[in-house]
Amino acid sequence: MARRMKVLAMTAPMAIVTEELGARHDLVKLWETPAAEREAALAAVAPRVEAIAAGGGHGAIDDALFARLPKLEIVSSFGVGYDHVDAKAAARRGIVVTHTPGVLDEEVADTAMALMLGATRRLPAAERWLRAGKWKSVGPFPLTASLRGRTLGILGFGRIGKAIARRAEAHGLMIAYCNRRPVEGVAYPYHPTPVALAAACDVLCAVMPGGAATKGIVNEDVFKALGPDGVFVNVGRGSSVDEPALVEALATGAILAAGLDVFAHEPDVPEALLALDNVMLLPHVASASHATREAMAKLVIANLDAWAEGRGPLTPVPETPWPRG
Ligand code: 8YV
Repeated sequence: MARRMKVLAMTAPMAIVTEELGARHDLVKLWETPAAEREAALAAVAPRVEAIAAGGGHGAIDDALFARLPKLEIVSSFGVGYDHVDAKAAARRGIVVTHTPGVLDEEVADTAMALMLGATRRLPAAERWLRAGKWKSVGPFPLTASLRGRTLGILGFGRIGKAIARRAEAHGLMIAYCNRRPVEGVAYPYHPTPVALAAACDVLCAVMPGGAATKGIVNEDVFKALGPDGVFVNVGRGSSVDEPALVEALATGAILAAGLDVFAHEPDVPEALLALDNVMLLPHVASASHATREAMAKLVIANLDAWAEGRGPLTPVPETPWPRG
């Protein structure tokens, strides 16, 4: 029998989440409370909250929040990345954390390919050229670099990294990868460090999670190793990149180009990046199709429903000890 849980949502989730959770649970829509009154509203409901439906775009779901929610059992987070949730602190308190892996791999991999092609062939700049009337007034857009003959280095070889590799093979690219450890059954050359991978490839695609373990690991040394023909793509987390070092590498020609979907301090994008013509910039849209975002939302809901029915979490994060020992 499913329990009706008290579910807290701090920011507005997708409509389907509000509708379905609202129908089966007692959903606290904190975002509807005026900002000045939110703190008091949270304090009033805190003793009874059993679950959190977490979207992107709100503050940290951290130990200080857990301390205020004595009945909290589960945090169901939207997105495969969950660096906004302190999953270790949750585990210490016996709180389950779930995320939405698997359902966005192909969409994010498609976007990675778009960034690779767009940055290398300067497709956004070519479109700007056309729209500005320069095709007519100046002539053909200048020739560009090519993906032909390149080796793609995939930094972070999980599900999304593998989906990118499948596409890159079809594009005729050679592939190498770097990961915390070699991945079983994968024959592509393995490099133990980002610098070693960058030295062995000329398109480097980062697909790393955020958090302390990856903070700033794509740094000046990595860009140096990638070299002046190198193209850098990021569909993981902006925090894994030393952003000033990336700006410097693009501005000085230490690397050729970049394609970025993620940034260190979203939605702030450094003016220096906006001013550069050799970088393709997207506003964190890699998974942002109707179909994929709906699949992610459904998994947020399914995790909470499964928990309420006593079936346990469907997709717990690695930090959550499950099944419980
Ligand atoms: C979403 C993401 O944009 O899944 C992730 O980790 O970064 C994206 O798919 C994000 O979760 C939206 O909040």
